[in-house]
Amino acid sequence: MRARLGPLELPNPVLAASGCAGAGRELAQFIDVARVGAIISKSIMTEPRTGNPAPRLAETPSGLLNSVGLQGPGVDAFLQRDLPWLLSRGARVVVSIAGQTVREYDALASRLSDAAGVSAVEINLSCPNAEDAGRPFGLDPATAGVVVAAVRGSLRYDVPVFAKLSPDVTDIVAVAGACVASGADGLSLINVLLGMAIDVRTMRPALAGAYGGLSGPAVRPVAVRCVWQVREAFPDVPIIGTGGVRTGRDALELLLAGASMVGVGTAIIHDPSACSRVLRELEEELAAIGVDRVADIIGQAHRRAPGVPRGFAWRT
Ligand code: DHB
Repeated sequence: MRARLGPLELPNPVLAASGCAGAGRELAQFIDVARVGAIISKSIMTEPRTGNPAPRLAETPSGLLNSVGLQGPGVDAFLQRDLPWLLSRGARVVVSIAGQTVREYDALASRLSDAAGVSAVEINLSCPNAEDAGRPFGLDPATAGVVVAAVRGSLRYDVPVFAKLSPDVTDIVAVAGACVASGADGLSLINVLLGMAIDVRTMRPALAGAYGGLSGPAVRPVAVRCVWQVREAFPDVPIIGTGGVRTGRDALELLLAGASMVGVGTAIIHDPSACSRVLRELEEELAAIGVDRVADIIGQAHRRAPGVPRGFAWRT
């Protein structure tokens, strides 16, 4: 089950996606955090934040809406308390970072450079850009590229950097290309889709923040499509596929689309052991189809008959 993401090698390809596992501590009641490929932290910001007012979660058919508002302890507490704890438990740690200005991303990358034991950095590009009327950095290829270049430039060691992209764009391949050109080693696809629910009894938005991020099984086909498109365009760029993975079969689908590793997120909220279960189920799925090595099935859905041009006749 060993998995490789460019320069990053992990014992298996199932990761706890950012945001649904905090910094891993709560999960340890239910699973061995060292058994998961890696834990991706809830996005860390420079300062502690209490996040948005409640209600911050709303259930919808096949999905969860959230507007947590990047609640968190801030980078200092993360480095002093959470990272050492995770490492002491034998976990691999991918640190997700989020900023509201390019300087904030810069500062976070600098701070992380002082910390030992970080397996990779994931840049959350879905934060509201304080310098551009709250428009998230990841919606525009040029802005996304600026953030990636800043982080890369401020990291004083050679840790792999992944850019996590929003699917709420017309052309995710353009954003992906800008991130890779600016120094990203790989991409995490996808973050939440913006959504909204209204309580018809109160006639008010279900979330205090009106709209928020949709995740869960409802978004999985969007994730599969984004992973597919980016893999088509950049077959050598490693991808962490995330979005609505609930079972080993869901994970297999994203691997076939071209992801090298798979993040499990929202499923953790109702099944805290989801990462271990998905890993076990993925092993069973691979055994059932006679695949010995995970690496052998990555991107296999892109196979085409000899001579068939790209974009045609996938099924021949
Ligand atoms: C939050 C941030 C995200 O990037 C996301 O995907 C979901 C929630 C937040 O904390 O608001």
